[in-house]
Amino acid sequence: MDKIVSLAKRRGFVFQSSEIYGGLNGCWDYGPLGVELLRNIKDAWWQSMTYREDIEGIDAAILMHPRVWEASGHVSNFTDPMVDCKECKARFRADQVDEAMCGSPAYKGRKAAKCQAEGKFTEARQFNLMFKTFVGPVEDEGAVVYLRPETAQGIFVNFLNVASGSRQKPPFGIAQIGKAFRNEINTKNFLFRTREFEQMEMQFFVKPGTDVEWFEKWRAERMQWFIDLGMTKEKLQWHQHEPDKLAHYAKDAYDIEYQFPFGWGEIEGIHNRSDFDLSQHEKYSGKSMQYFDQESKEKYTPYIIETSAGASRSFMAFLVDAYNEEEAPTADGKSEIRTVLKFHPRLAPTKAAVFPLVNRDGMPEIARNLEADLRPHMRVFYDDGGAVGRRYRRQDEVGTPFCITIDSETLTNQTVTVRERDSMNQERVAISQVRNYLSVSIRS
Ligand code: GAP
Repeated sequence: MDKIVSLAKRRGFVFQSSEIYGGLNGCWDYGPLGVELLRNIKDAWWQSMTYREDIEGIDAAILMHPRVWEASGHVSNFTDPMVDCKECKARFRADQVDEAMCGSPAYKGRKAAKCQAEGKFTEARQFNLMFKTFVGPVEDEGAVVYLRPETAQGIFVNFLNVASGSRQKPPFGIAQIGKAFRNEINTKNFLFRTREFEQMEMQFFVKPGTDVEWFEKWRAERMQWFIDLGMTKEKLQWHQHEPDKLAHYAKDAYDIEYQFPFGWGEIEGIHNRSDFDLSQHEKYSGKSMQYFDQESKEKYTPYIIETSAGASRSFMAFLVDAYNEEEAPTADGKSEIRTVLKFHPRLAPTKAAVFPLVNRDGMPEIARNLEADLRPHMRVFYDDGGAVGRRYRRQDEVGTPFCITIDSETLTNQTVTVRERDSMNQERVAISQVRNYLSVSIRS
C-alpha cells in the first residue's frame, strides 16, 4: 500500500486534503490523473446503468428533509459503538479495538487491546455517524439537517416522480452517483474508509415475489462489471451477510469484496431491501408510496434490489489491481524493473502519449499535428523530454495504454510506431489511421 499511496501522490492521482495545514483526517483530494480515473469509473458505471431501457438516472440534493433520516432508520440505528482512552484521549470503534494500536506516542507499537485490558478505556457508547448542520441563520434543534450518509434515500423519495415522469413501471431502476458523508470514528487504509466519499447506487423496484430472481440477476451483473473492466477475477469474492448481521432494512445481502494488500474489503453491497424503504417513507410522510398498475389494476409497494458501490473504494481497488512491478528490457539489452499501472484502456486517465523521437528534422511538428488531431477525441499527452525509453517508463507508471513515436521512418512513409503498454509490443500504423486504431483499441 505504501508504494501505491506514494505513487498516487507523486504522479497526481490523490493528495491529502488541506495538506499544507497538516491534512484533514478521512478526506482526500483527487489530482489531475485521479480525477480522470474517477470520472472514467463513474462514466463506465453510468453507461452500464442508464444506457438501457429500464433504468433512469437522477441527481438528488445532498441535504434532505430531516424526517427522511428518521424514516430510514439512520437517526436511531446508524451508530457505531465507541470507546475513549481516558489516558491518551484516543477514540476507537469498540468492535475494532483488537486491530487498533494505542494512540499515545509514549506507547508506540502497543496494542490498544492491552490498554483496554488495563482498564484505561471508557464504557462503549453509541455514536451516530451522520454529520449534522443547520439550515438558515439560527443554529437550533429545529434547523438541524444532515449531510446524507448514502445517496439511496434521494432515490426512494423520488420513486413515484420518476415512475410517472418517465412512464416506467416495475421492474425498473433509478441510478444516482453522488457524495455521501459519514463521521467515521476511525478512518483507515487510504481511500477505503473516509469521511467524505462518492457512491454509485442503483435501486431496482420490482413486484413482490419477483425480488429473489432480480436479486440474483443483479448480483451476477455487478460482479461481471468489475471483471469486464479488467479487475482480476481471483481477487474478487462474495461475502454473504449472516442473518443476525443483516442491516435493519435487508432481507438478504451480499458484498463484493476485493483482496486489498491489507486483506479482503467490501467494494459494493447488493441488498434485497424488501418493501422497507417505501413503507417507511409512506408512514413518515403520510403520502402513499404504492404503485398502481393501470393494466392489471393492482396496487402494491414494490420491493427494492439495491446495488451500492463506492466510487472511491472502486477507484482504490482499480488502482491497487492495476499496480505491477515487473522486469522490462532496456535499450542496451539489459533489464530493469518497471512500475506499470495496467488499467483497462477505458479507465486509463490518459489514453495516448505522443513523442517525437528527436527534436529536429520536422518530427516535433508532425507529433504536434497528430496530438492536435487526437485531442478532441481523447486525453493525450505530448512528451519530447529525454530518451524514449524513459518516456515509456513515465507513461507506464500512470497507465497510459498507448505511446506513439514519430521517427525517421515517419518522414519517408507516414507511419508511426504504436507501443502497447502491457505487452510492450510495437506496431507500425499509418498516421492517418492512428485515431481510428486508438478508438477501437480503447473500446475493446
Ligand atoms: N445504501 C446502502 C449503503 O450505503 P453501505 O454498505 O453502507 O450501503 C455502500 O455502503 C458502499 O459505499 C460500500 O460498499 C463502500 O464501497 C462505500 N462506502 C461506505 N462507507 C464508506 C466510507 N466510509 N468510505 C469510503 N467508501 C465507503
